[in-house]
Parts: sequence; C-alpha cells; structure tokens
Amino acid sequence: MPVRAEFEKYRSLLNRLTAASADIGAGDGQPVWEIYVPAHRPVSRRIVDRLTRQGIACPPLDPIATFQARFYNYRRNGLKADPGFLAAAGLNLKLPPESVHMISRGSGVFLDINNADFLVEACEDSGFTMAPGLDILDFGGSTGRTVCNLAYGFPEVRWHCCDPSPVSIAWGRENHPEVNYFVSNQNPPLARGDDRLDGILAKSVWTHFSASASRRWLTELSRVVRPGGFLALTAHGPHDIARRIVYGNPSPDYGLLEKIGRKTGNGLLNKILRKFRGPSADRKDAEYRFLDMVTEKISDRGHFFSPYAPWTLSGQGDIRDAENADTSQWGLTFFTQQWFKAHLEPTPWRIAGYHIGRTGHRQDIYVLRNDKPPRDRDTPRG
Ligand SMILES: C[S@@+](CC[C@H](N)C(=O)[O-])C[C@H]1O[C@@H](n2cnc3c(N)ncnc32)[C@H](O)[C@@H]1O
Repeated sequence: MPVRAEFEKYRSLLNRLTAASADIGAGDGQPVWEIYVPAHRPVSRRIVDRLTRQGIACPPLDPIATFQARFYNYRRNGLKADPGFLAAAGLNLKLPPESVHMISRGSGVFLDINNADFLVEACEDSGFTMAPGLDILDFGGSTGRTVCNLAYGFPEVRWHCCDPSPVSIAWGRENHPEVNYFVSNQNPPLARGDDRLDGILAKSVWTHFSASASRRWLTELSRVVRPGGFLALTAHGPHDIARRIVYGNPSPDYGLLEKIGRKTGNGLLNKILRKFRGPSADRKDAEYRFLDMVTEKISDRGHFFSPYAPWTLSGQGDIRDAENADTSQWGLTFFTQQWFKAHLEPTPWRIAGYHIGRTGHRQDIYVLRNDKPPRDRDTPRG
C-alpha cells in the first residue's frame, strides 16, 4: 500500500493514538485492518438456519473468509431474483422510498446484515446473548435496516426500534410489524418505564452526539435498562482517524456532510463540504486541515465534536422531521476509549467490551454493562 507524503506528518500522532488504544490493526504505516468478516456471524447463521428449515438452499457458511462474498453473490443473483419466494420465507424486501431515511439503500434483502453480525457478536463476546423473551431496543434505529435482520434471525426476542423521526417510524411500523416502533425525542426522557429493557443497540448515534447529549442519554438509558443489562453503541475513534491518515483519505466522507455546508473552524468545513469547485489539490488541502482539527482535539482531550449548523437541517433526511429539530447537540463526533471511560464514571455504565474498527471498517463498538444496583424486589418493573 503506498504511504502518502502527508503520512510522515502524522506518524508520531498515529503511533501514540494506536498504542494508547491498543489498536494493533493500525500501527506505524502498516495497512489498517479492514474487518469485513465477523468471526462468528451470529445473525447470518440464524438467518441461514431459518431459510434452510424452510427448504431454501443457502450457501455454505465455511470457510469463514469466503462466506460473506458468497452470501452477497447469492443474494444478488439468487434470492433477490425471486421476491415471491422471499415473501414466502418471511423476508421483507421492502425498502423505504427516497423521501424516507435509510442509510445505504443498495444492499437489498438483508439490508444491514454485516453490522447486525458485528453488533451481536460484540455483545456475545461480552456475555450478552439475544435470548428468547428479552426486550431489546434499536435506539436511533431509523426505518429499521439493522433491527429487521435481528428480528429475522432472533424472532423469539421482542425487538423495539425508536427514532426522533416520526416519518421513519411510521414507515417502519407499517412495513415491519415484527418490530415495535415508537417515536422518541432528541432529548430524554424515553417513553419507557424503569428497568423495562434488557438491552439496547445504538449504531451510528454516538458518532453524532455532543458530550452533553451523550451524558444525558447514557443516564436516561441506564434508567430504562434493567440492572446487569447492556448498551452496545458505535463510535468514531482512533481507528477511524488511523484509516484516514494511512489511506490519505482525510475527508469527513459521509454523504450527509458532502451534501451540506457547515460553519466550523473559520468556515473550513463549509468550504470542504459544499460542492467545492476548486482544484482537487485545494480540496485535499482543506480536508487535511479538517483532519488536523480532529487530531488536535483528540490529542489534547480525547474528544472532538462539531455540531451541524441549523440551516443544514432541511438536507438531513433523519432529524429534519423530528419535533423541534435541533442540531446544537448533533454533529460529527470522535472520542478515545480513555475519554469515554472517564465520561461514563458518573453513570452506572461500565465498559464490558471494546471492539476496534468494526462497522464500516471505521466505527468502534463499545459494549456497556449497567452496574446500577437492583431495585427493591417489592417495586414492580415500570
Ligand atoms: C446515522 S443514522 C443511523 C441509523 C441506524 N442506526 C442505522 O445504522 O441505519 C442516525 C440516526 O439517529 C437518529 N437520531 C438523531 N438524534 C437522535 C437522538 N437524540 N436520539 C436517538 N436517535 C437520534 C436519526 O434520526 C437517525 O435515524
């Protein structure tokens, strides 16, 4: 892999960050690990088992390294070609229309199976299983691309999905009755009683929260999850930064950010993120300045947050429809494990597992355990 000229500038920072996070997948100019294949694929396995029981031939699960590729080919060439068959198998092919939020529309029938595998695998590695009868919530689940796979793979779990976008929730409720959808607000409280849930998954939500929103939601979610329950969330951390440095790809690089402008760092992000018409070398230069902003904050305090500007709301397919939509605590966020550990201190959450560079080869997964004391046995579950 060619090491870019800019790499030298970041080498010592990169080495410090990756050593501090024990990220053996991204050190000193080595290629950054791209973790395509979850080790156990717990959701894929369940889905394949279920299809097989219904007489639908599935590709072999082994060898591990080729399974995902075969599965995807199979899906493209086989399953997707026969919607009647899929409907009979109980697989829902419906995708939301363009006007309704969904990340990555191209993946067809299994939607977000890779990330569902990563999340469940991370939970299982920390001792949390998707056992029958549990109540598990996909927090910030949008229209449900992740939770729908989970509901197919683990139909004995009671799956819930909340999001501040009433439009996303209405679509999910109508199209995926196997999941219990409800609208949440951007700010706590969550309309659930104390200890009502056994666990929560939150994919690509803490990648956007300010420190203050994060703390408020951690406190609130510890209320609704029973003692000993879990919260598995994804975050941008040192691995994501390493990936940008090593691959010479400093851009914020998210569809939303590319489409809209934003005022931060003397208009720098605005310049990068608006359809920047200057020579691409200039754009690259501006993107590296964005990366400098992130790395400076991460080195100083282990945390970076930059809110989306209010005038970008209309371009945001998710929260623009939320009641009293507000971007002051919602933007682009990076943090280190050390920062997060200290941030969790006042809450009952403790880190039970930390998995580097999983979803999209960039987001870390934190599995947290709710260490709050059990309630008085006479007090009914809320
Ligand atoms: C990047 S998307 C991720 C969606 C989904 N988890 C997935 O991976 O496909 C972020 C989601 O968080 C939702 N969201 C925004 N503010 C939130 C808040 N305060 N609490 C919970 N979810 C929020 C958005 O509406 C959006 O659906």
